[in-house]
Amino acid sequence: MSKQVVLSGIRPTGNLHLGNYFGAVRNFVAMQDNYRCYFFIADIHSLTTHPTPENLHGSVRQVLAEYLACGIDPDKAAIYIQSDLTETLELYTYLNMNAYLGELERTTSFKDKARKNPDNVNAGLLTYPVLMAADIIIHRANYVPVGKDQEQNLEMAVKFAARFNRMYGAELFPKPGPFTYDGKDPIKVPGLDGSGKMGKSEGNAINLIDTPEDIRKKVMRAVTDSGPTTPNQQKPEPIQNLFTLMNIVSKSDVIAFFDDKYNNCRIRYGDMKKQLAEDIIAFTAPIRERIVSILADEAFMARVAREGAEKARESASATMKEVRKLIGIRRFF
Ligand code: TRP
Repeated sequence: MSKQVVLSGIRPTGNLHLGNYFGAVRNFVAMQDNYRCYFFIADIHSLTTHPTPENLHGSVRQVLAEYLACGIDPDKAAIYIQSDLTETLELYTYLNMNAYLGELERTTSFKDKARKNPDNVNAGLLTYPVLMAADIIIHRANYVPVGKDQEQNLEMAVKFAARFNRMYGAELFPKPGPFTYDGKDPIKVPGLDGSGKMGKSEGNAINLIDTPEDIRKKVMRAVTDSGPTTPNQQKPEPIQNLFTLMNIVSKSDVIAFFDDKYNNCRIRYGDMKKQLAEDIIAFTAPIRERIVSILADEAFMARVAREGAEKARESASATMKEVRKLIGIRRFF
């Protein structure tokens, strides 16, 4: 039996941080062996915010290098740039003919973005979920790993796929479902600001590309408190967060050592943070080195992008042949 198809789009914004690494990225890497995977960098979607040409290209390069450095293997998965697969834009156009103003206007992410940027409520923003549906169904994907913020967009993709099938009396597109990680939830990495999880917009993140100096500074600034006063007391959130980070990057004897100190009210947060910073550095250093060396290897990046686009095109052009036939777009020549 042929493998089920998994697809995910990656927004080319910002750098990957530890939270991304232990969340989505690690799961992508795990999926490439068991599914036919398509991962692409959604550069066309990002045009809704009007990046400069330099910023656009720079972010796409950076994101590509970072995902490769984290272990996305171009020999296993198809990793490509959305704009290299122009078939998607054709499908987007066709899907737009059956996407209705009302349903697009009701989308939460559209309403949010329109409210935040009232001067840039463009048609691309309105039809963002249509382009996303095209991304997904062009490979007839079965699964899409999505976070909470993308659930509604996935539901719209399900709707557009079913609408197309119904309209043309076909069963071309399978229903794309959310990918759930066989009981293994992504590890939630806390931020350094005392509460909540690590996120780039929260400003509490450690990026994989951060230098050892950056990391030491960020960790030393992490929120703590004045220390425990009674033995074995429960750790308040900021302190628990530091321990959670340690659990992720440090050796068990190191964790046990500081846990013990805490429980005996003898912890020195400065020492703990120093240790944590060094353990984070040890963890991220090899990834950072890979990012840097991939970015310096133009030929490698070019080959990855070309081969990814070729693999994607093979699947997309087969779908588009069927789509055109069903719609009645027939060539005279
Ligand atoms: N909208 C997604 C995000 O903002 C990116 C994306 C574009 C995507 N096309 C997709 C995700 C297709 C999954 C499937 O993160």
